[in-house]
Amino acid sequence: MKSVFFGAVSAAALIASAVHAEPQAEVLHWWTSGGEAKSVAVLQEEFASKGGTWTDMPVAGGGGDAAMTALRARVLSGNAPTAVQLKGPAIQEWYEEGVLADISSVAEAQGWADVLPASIAGHMKCEGTWCAAPVNVHRVDWIWANADVLEANGIEMPTTWDEFNAAAEKLAAAGVIPLAHGGQAWQDATVFEAVALGILGPDGFRKAFVDLDMDTLKSDEMKAVFDQMRTMRGYVDENFSGRDWNLATAMVMNGEAAFQIMGDWAKGEFMAAGKVPGEDFLCASVPGDGFLYNVDSFAMFTVDGDDKKAGQDLLAELIVGQNFQKVFNLNKGSIPARIDVPLDEFDSCAHLSAKDMSESSDNGSLLPSYAHGMALRGAQSGAITDVVTAHFNSDMSSDEAVNMLADAVANSM
Ligand code: GAL
Repeated sequence: MKSVFFGAVSAAALIASAVHAEPQAEVLHWWTSGGEAKSVAVLQEEFASKGGTWTDMPVAGGGGDAAMTALRARVLSGNAPTAVQLKGPAIQEWYEEGVLADISSVAEAQGWADVLPASIAGHMKCEGTWCAAPVNVHRVDWIWANADVLEANGIEMPTTWDEFNAAAEKLAAAGVIPLAHGGQAWQDATVFEAVALGILGPDGFRKAFVDLDMDTLKSDEMKAVFDQMRTMRGYVDENFSGRDWNLATAMVMNGEAAFQIMGDWAKGEFMAAGKVPGEDFLCASVPGDGFLYNVDSFAMFTVDGDDKKAGQDLLAELIVGQNFQKVFNLNKGSIPARIDVPLDEFDSCAHLSAKDMSESSDNGSLLPSYAHGMALRGAQSGAITDVVTAHFNSDMSSDEAVNMLADAVANSM
């Protein structure tokens, strides 16, 4: 009798502790710049206001390469973080390793399927279950400019690459650095894919960086992409090597440089510094059609403990919540992943992004960013970026570059 009694008590206690577990989360992310830190603070605050305890694990390094290395080390040592900033096909790669938690119960209770576009929802699913929660849609193919610098030099936002080059020559002659750039592989890749979208067009981009079509990778158009990269190498200052992306954005802000080609997390930096779009800085999509999307998301890793599981459920619920999607994205420079968040408090660049995203979705030119891990698995995107950065940092010809590109991709499959 006695043991049955105690057995019953401890089962009840267990259930009670599961229900009342205080949400805990150790969160791995790479949001450490001014605008990024302000954005992730929104999630930390919402989590704390619901009784959660947040342990921050920021791993500095734009684009997240260092964060992904840190993640691998943690998972291999059997000590995965509770929640991880993870996106694109890397989500499915980790799922295949058997280390992701299923967050379908939250997704279904919150009706995610009804409020997320199918293209975004697809990235968040693993064999039919929900395995990640999306926070936003960043657009990658943007040109940012210092409005005063352009005006003082009689330059309009370029609408073709020839206009861009003519503007850059004029700026250089006037003693302004035409292009603010940080020489890190992921930033080289970011500029490269924006140029590639413009020159190859949406269909060519898809063939090259989604389908990995060898003829397109070796085509004359791809040579023209490398030619333009070589031209642009002449528009960056001599100290570009290793510079962080947000320091390049600061060069545009303070008028040292005129342009930056970067995703709209750069807008988060302008906004965090109190700059006004249309007045202090200008935004335009790069010359050419199409829209390169980069959706940030969080995946939950398999962990022990009711408090951590409660933390994962709470995080997933908050991330896709309407209020979070608005406030976070106002700071981050992106637009909400949810389709039902009113955009009236958002600026003109965000409105342009939302309009272009919907048009490109209708006409088939909405494309995943290869440089930001949305289009390809790590081995393939890494192989492409190695070639892009080797070309940008040497005197390699465009002929050599396309041959090397085709070989690298073939060897990565
Ligand atoms: C991207 C990420 C953005 C932004 C950027 C620079 O890959 O999606 O949210 O943080 O890196 O760190």
